Amino acid sequence: MSQEAPQQNPRPRVATYLRTHLRTIVATAATLAVLVPLAVMWWGSRMPGSYSVMDMGYVDLGGGPDTMGLADRSGHDMSGMPGMVSVADLVADPGRPADVTVDLTASQGTVTLASGRTVEGYMFNGTSPGPLIEATEGDLVEVRVHNDDVEDGISVHWHGVDVPNAEDGVAGVTQDAIGAGEDHVYRFVVDDPGTYWYHSHQVSHTQVLRGLYGPLVVHPRGRPSAVDVMAVTHTYAGTRTLNGDEGVVTFGASPGAVARVRVVNTDNGAVQAWSSAPYRVLAVDGREVNEPTAVEGKRVSVPAGGRYDLEVTAPARIQIGSTALVVGDDDPGRAPQPRDELDMLSYGSPTALPFDASAPDRTFRYSIGRRPGFLDGKPGFWWSINGHLWPDIPMYVVDEGDVVVFEIENHSGEVHPMHLHGHHAVVLSRDGEEATGSPWWVDSLDVDDGETLRVAFVADNPGIWMDHCHNLKHAAQGLVAHLMYSNVTEPYRAGDDTGNTPE
Ligand code: C2O
Ligand code: CU
Repeated sequence: MSQEAPQQNPRPRVATYLRTHLRTIVATAATLAVLVPLAVMWWGSRMPGSYSVMDMGYVDLGGGPDTMGLADRSGHDMSGMPGMVSVADLVADPGRPADVTVDLTASQGTVTLASGRTVEGYMFNGTSPGPLIEATEGDLVEVRVHNDDVEDGISVHWHGVDVPNAEDGVAGVTQDAIGAGEDHVYRFVVDDPGTYWYHSHQVSHTQVLRGLYGPLVVHPRGRPSAVDVMAVTHTYAGTRTLNGDEGVVTFGASPGAVARVRVVNTDNGAVQAWSSAPYRVLAVDGREVNEPTAVEGKRVSVPAGGRYDLEVTAPARIQIGSTALVVGDDDPGRAPQPRDELDMLSYGSPTALPFDASAPDRTFRYSIGRRPGFLDGKPGFWWSINGHLWPDIPMYVVDEGDVVVFEIENHSGEVHPMHLHGHHAVVLSRDGEEATGSPWWVDSLDVDDGETLRVAFVADNPGIWMDHCHNLKHAAQGLVAHLMYSNVTEPYRAGDDTGNTPE
């Protein structure tokens, strides 16, 4: 056996170094290869303290023309260009006197609900829900809002009323938040009879949850004699309420009286409603159903933000989640929750649409997913729109007069109640199945996981409009996009430094 002499390493020192440290070098390089893009993503996701929603994301023309050349102008000030109109100028006729005047004062503190329960939150005129605002179709409604002491500021959005853009009440998009001690006047004409609601659109995921909302009803001219009942549902700190009350709420009516029950869902999730006796769905989201038929053994699912007007004949008991409304003097008792849900896609009778949805000027995709990433610098598993995370999301651009189709698709694992401001859309199909019932007009529409809904509308209300999830927690988690008319400019800014936080 021969002993080998210890060998001197003939290779240069650098190579030696590389060899002995190869693992570390490779590991470091691999780490950097992951970290550097992550850092870039993190940095890129951080929102400036002040930004215009107009500069957010990328222009999506939906296959239509780029009339104002927006695609290569993002971030540029276009306010001086001919033909452009500012969001702030899109108002109701300033010369027209108001038909209905309402004063709303917002405050924060201990709210005493109709049931006597107290919760910490927000109120309008000392109550939550705030006062019922009533008007008649065609009226000009003027609401003078005063923010008494809500520190974060407030705004008032008229959910479902297709108001002029400057009256839409979205802090940082259509106005500045109304600070504590400040006033703001809203003016709009209510052309469409129906059931609506109003709520703050400043830090809305907290302010609405904690009570800063109220109902709004537009009566038709020549008001019908039916008994008219509000059924505004809201969950305060885990307790479901009906008009601020709890349990079974009674509305006196003589036997045989026909009542219109206006179910308003102000929560973040859908609520199920059904009746002890056959009922009809008269309207959805402030639009009448054409030839509604009697519904028996089925429930309706009212999406977050949505409204369903149900017709019952007294005595009847309408169950709304865990609460109930008895119309009449005797409680017929709780009927068990029906397994089947009424499908609005085939309810009522078809009638011609006021536009041709088969030849849209623009077709947009609003595909909702979920993926890991950064949202304003915070790592998480966030909602995505067409694969992108907020704020790098599509800006849907239209021209006034366009027929617009949205294909809303959801593969995110959860249901999303989608709400487009300023417009009502008609549902064309679900998962390729065409609508066969009454035109189903909506402003708040549940899109279930795995579903694709095709909706259409006419772009007839210029402005910059939010198109977001009305599970307001989801909105605050980035499920917010905008529909923008190509000739509209935005004078307002959002972001931490501006005091405007619409979500
Ligand atoms: Cu009721 Cu943007 O919401
Ligand atoms: Cu959602």
